[in-house]
Amino acid sequence: MQEFHFPNWVNRFTVIAILGGLAVGGYLATCLFAATHPRVVNVGHQPPQPVPFSHKLHAGQLKMDCRYCHNTVEVSGHAAVPATATCGNCHGGNRVKEGATLSVVRQESVLLKPIRDALETADFGRESGKPMEWERVHDLPDFVYFNHSAHISRGVSCVSCHGRVDTMEVVAQRETLSMAWCLECHRNPEKNIRDPQLVTKLDFVPEGDPEAYGREWAEKLNIKPNVSCSTCHR
Ligand code: HEC
Ligand code: HEC
Ligand code: HEC
Ligand code: HEC
Ligand code: HEC
Repeated sequence: MQEFHFPNWVNRFTVIAILGGLAVGGYLATCLFAATHPRVVNVGHQPPQPVPFSHKLHAGQLKMDCRYCHNTVEVSGHAAVPATATCGNCHGGNRVKEGATLSVVRQESVLLKPIRDALETADFGRESGKPMEWERVHDLPDFVYFNHSAHISRGVSCVSCHGRVDTMEVVAQRETLSMAWCLECHRNPEKNIRDPQLVTKLDFVPEGDPEAYGREWAEKLNIKPNVSCSTCHR
């Protein structure tokens, strides 16, 4: 009778099993990380900001148009967050600009100190100032091409993609920004089209049948379904 012993490959097998286990574990950990990374679980993403800026107050109660601050949204791909000098129009502290004292809304507010400090570095001849480091809320992967002005000029309102920002104390991402989400509208854009002059009027509701209203404007602006890959991947 032969003596039983493990064949040679068993040792190697043990090593492979351990490495395999590590690989699978690593893979699972990566998936878990990816699935909880803000870019993926992005609906509701609401990073802390250096100044607690309220859209509800400024865009809602004070009725400031979105373009007062996001002034490139109509003409460029990027909406851009405002320069500190834009805040300085009202929160400039007691600084003097060309002989006139800047508006001093809440001059004493500690919440606005970072704005006043940034403006200290401003050269008012050029209306600049140290930029505030606002945290990005929305962030598409770099391989996707997106363009704000292409939407704004075609009658797609901010509300279709960002929700009622004018009621948000802190901006939060409302949509997934996934490819499926983009395509859902691109396949059938009509119901999201309005008079381009009303794109920043987030509470706008058309009189009568909203579907007929959307169709009418889609026709006027000659909007077509647009799902070709090269629209968003160039
Ligand atoms: C008084 C200036 C001001 C006005 C008016 C304003 N915003 Fe903003 N907006 C900001 C600032 C500052 C930030 C960056 C800080 C933050 O995210 O809250 C911002 C951020 C945003 C973001 C998130 C940007 C990102 O990082 O992804 C969206 C979306 C947005 N605004 C939409 C709007 C819309 C829609 C309106 C009009 C209803 C509007 N804003 C009006 C100043 C303004
Ligand atoms: C057109 C004028 C105007 C502009 C421009 C403006 N604000 Fe305001 N802001 C106000 C008014 C009015 C209030 C409310 C003051 C009050 O409640 O007495 C206010 C209040 C605030 C407050 C709350 C302060 C506190 O102590 O409660 C913060 C923070 C603030 N603004 C940040 C900003 C930032 C950041 C910007 C630039 C992105 C900005 N504001 C641009 C008019 C403005
Ligand atoms: C068709 C959907 C859509 C519409 C309409 C839209 N946005 Fe956006 N917005 C996005 C997406 C997607 C991003 C993220 C872009 C990126 O990461 O490159 C974004 C980002 C932003 C940002 C961050 C800065 C930037 O450009 O990345 C601001 C501010 C903003 N939007 C404001 C607005 C305002 C104000 C309006 C209306 C005048 C508006 N958006 C209309 C989809 C939209
Ligand atoms: C709520 C509707 C809606 C959503 C959501 C939407 N789009 Fe659009 N998009 C449109 C409309 C409408 C047009 C203009 C179509 C036309 O001109 O006929 C357009 C045009 C574009 C264009 C310009 C095409 C060109 O050739 O000028 C790009 C790029 C684009 N969208 C990318 C995106 C991306 C990327 C997303 C998702 C992150 C997205 N869109 C989400 C409605 C939408
Ligand atoms: C209206 C805009 C739009 C169109 C049209 C579009 N895509 Fe995308 N695509 C996106 C966006 C946005 C993402 C990023 C999704 C994310 O980050 O979750 C994406 C992601 C992808 C990815 C990466 C997959 C992943 O899960 O990360 C591939 C591959 C892709 N698209 C291929 C295509 C092909 C092929 C077509 C044509 C049949 C196409 N796309 C048409 C917007 C678009």
